[in-house]
Amino acid sequence: MQSTNDNGQRKRLLTGDRPTGRLHLGHYVGSLANRVRLQEEYECYFLLADYQALGDHIDEIDRIRDSVIQVTLDWLAVGLDPERSSFVIQSAVPEHAELHMLFTMLVSVPRLERNPTLKAEMANLGKRENISVGFMAYPVSQAADILLPKAHIVPVGEDQMPHIEMTREIARKFNRVYGEVFPVPDGMVGTVPRLVGTDGQAKMSKSLGNCIYLSDDEAAVTAKVRTMYTDPTRIHPTDPGHVEGNPVFMYHDAFNSDKAEVEDLKERYRAGRVGDVEVKQKLVRALNEFLDPIRERRSYFEQHMDEVKHALLAGTARGKKVAEATMAEVRAAMRIASYID
Ligand code: TRP
Repeated sequence: MQSTNDNGQRKRLLTGDRPTGRLHLGHYVGSLANRVRLQEEYECYFLLADYQALGDHIDEIDRIRDSVIQVTLDWLAVGLDPERSSFVIQSAVPEHAELHMLFTMLVSVPRLERNPTLKAEMANLGKRENISVGFMAYPVSQAADILLPKAHIVPVGEDQMPHIEMTREIARKFNRVYGEVFPVPDGMVGTVPRLVGTDGQAKMSKSLGNCIYLSDDEAAVTAKVRTMYTDPTRIHPTDPGHVEGNPVFMYHDAFNSDKAEVEDLKERYRAGRVGDVEVKQKLVRALNEFLDPIRERRSYFEQHMDEVKHALLAGTARGKKVAEATMAEVRAAMRIASYID
C-alpha cells in the first residue's frame, strides 16, 4: 500500500535520532519498528540530529561524530533501506537552522515552558544557568526538522509527542500568518510507547544506564537480564508472583515471538510454579533470537563502511534538495530575502 497526496506523490515521513550514543530496545519498539514497516508506503527522511545533540553536549564533538556512524549502523542493522529512504545529517543541511530561527518567532516563551517533556529535561539540568537558549528551543528546532521535508507522519516514542503537538501549532500558525505552506503532521507511537528500563524505571534511557542496546552481544544481554528488576514482593519461586508491571514480562510481551511460551510462563508465575531464573533464561533466548539478524546486518555494514558512507552522502544530498525547495517557498511566502526584485 502507498499513501499518496493529491498529486499522486508518496506522502512523506520524517523522524530522527540524536547522535549521542547507540540505539536500544526502547528505540526499537517506540519508533524503529514503525519506520521499518512504513518505509515502503512513505517517502522517508531519517535525520541524524547532530545540531540538537549539541544542545546538551557542546564539548562532546568526538562523541557526536562517532554516534552519527553508530546510529547509522543501528538503522541499517534493523533494516532501514538507504536506497528507498534518505538518511540525512542535520548539520549538512543548514536550512534546518534557518527554518528553526524563523519558527522561534512563532512560539512564545511560556508555551515552550509548558511542554512537559522539555520541562522534565530542564529540571534534570538543574540550575536555570545550565539551560542554554539552544537547548530550551530544541522542540522548535524539531518542528523545523519535521516541516522542512513537509512530513505528514512522524513515528516517535511517547515522550516526543508534546514536540509533535508544538509542530502542529507552528505549522498552523505559519500557514495562517504567511499563507498555506505546511501540512499539519501526525505523530505515531509504537506498540510499546515507553519501554521500562532493566532497572524497572519508567523509561529505558542512556542517561539512566538501564538499556539493552541493539548492538549488545549475547554475553551483555545475558548479564543485563540476569540482574534485571522483577517482582520485588516475591522471595521464593513458590510465592505467587505479579506479572503486570513486571519488566521481565513486559520484555517477554514485546520481544518473545513464542506467545504460547509467554502465556505459560505467566500462568505459572502467578501460581508460584516457576522461578525467576527460568523466566529470565527464556527472555535471554528470546532477546537473542530477536537481536541475531540485527547483529548480523550490523556486522556486514561494519565491514562495508564504504556503503555506510555512501548512504549518508546520498541521503543527505536528497534531504538538502527537498530542504532547499521548502525554504524557497518559505521565503516567498514570508516575502523576505527579495526586497530589491
Ligand atoms: N528528539 C528526538 C529524540 O531524542 C530526535 C529528533 C530530532 C527527532 N529531530 C526530530 C524526532 C524530528 C522526530 C522528528 O529521539
